Amino acid sequence: MTTHTNAPLPTNEAMRPILEMRQVTQTYTLARQKLFEARPTLTVLDHIDFDVRPGEAVGLVGESGSGKTTLTRILTGMEQPREGHVLFDGRDVWTAEPSHRQLFRRSVQVVMQNPRSSLDPRMRLGASLLEPLRSLRIEGDHAARVYQVLDQVGLSRNALERFPHEFSGGQLQRIAIARALMSGPKVLIADEPVSALDVSIQAQVLNLLKDLVRDLGLALVFIAHDLSVVAYTTSRVSVMSAGRIVEIGKPLDLFTHPKAEATRNLVGAILTVESGLAGNALA
Ligand SMILES: Nc1ncnc2c1ncn2[C@@H]1O[C@H](COP(=O)(O)OP(=O)(O)OP(=O)(O)O)[C@@H](O)[C@H]1O
Ligand SMILES: [Mg+2]
Repeated sequence: MTTHTNAPLPTNEAMRPILEMRQVTQTYTLARQKLFEARPTLTVLDHIDFDVRPGEAVGLVGESGSGKTTLTRILTGMEQPREGHVLFDGRDVWTAEPSHRQLFRRSVQVVMQNPRSSLDPRMRLGASLLEPLRSLRIEGDHAARVYQVLDQVGLSRNALERFPHEFSGGQLQRIAIARALMSGPKVLIADEPVSALDVSIQAQVLNLLKDLVRDLGLALVFIAHDLSVVAYTTSRVSVMSAGRIVEIGKPLDLFTHPKAEATRNLVGAILTVESGLAGNALA
């Protein structure tokens, strides 16, 4: 066969999206309002396109209820979309064979907002870190993997014997990140990872996430309400409103020239807080 000779040059492998959503729509069926009425449906995501490449940090911002966490659940395979496709390494995760699905489950991990609720209070840190290796049936030297990940997130070995209540909020989020790294993911999805933390330690967690992108070549999807937190961490941001992506841009451009109303509202919220801090909120 000679059909390949006219094919376009292969794209740079490193630049192909590792995780992608194509035209994803998600609806939920709600409870009936009246006995004989049809059950109403709520469209939470409406034809969403979204992707992230290895070594890239992308942001997703939007007001409360715009669909960010629903998008997270679909990107991680916890939920199947009503319409559209989720592709990991170029292949649809819902129709791929079991070995590709298993690779997808190991390779896409999530860090949630509240580290206290994502860790079992009765488990020592060591056991919590081993748990994903067991549930994802990952073989190999588990102890060596635990030490390697502790190193990557900057925790010491004596932390392994301790329980969640012995750590501060910032340390716990570090542990939640460690737990997400155990399976050797290629994509990390962080859904509001610092909004439950004290402002003084938010920067440490943000810097850790940035380091992981740079050092491990991870793809990071960073989700938040707060455009300034996302701007610090990512190079490209999608703005969501009512289940749609209404604008995509570089963080600085979104700040200085927001086009969509939803973006202007997010920028406006920050400026209001700033002027409040400067004492001119009522000026
Ligand atoms: N399982 C479900 N059944 C019905 N409605 C749902 C379900 N999950 C989410 N919703 C609705 O979908 C919409 C989007 O919710 P989602 O949690 O994705 O928003 P969000 O952008 O993450 O909000 P927040 O910023 O508050 O975390 C909301 O209106 C929510 O009430
Ligand atoms: Mg949410």
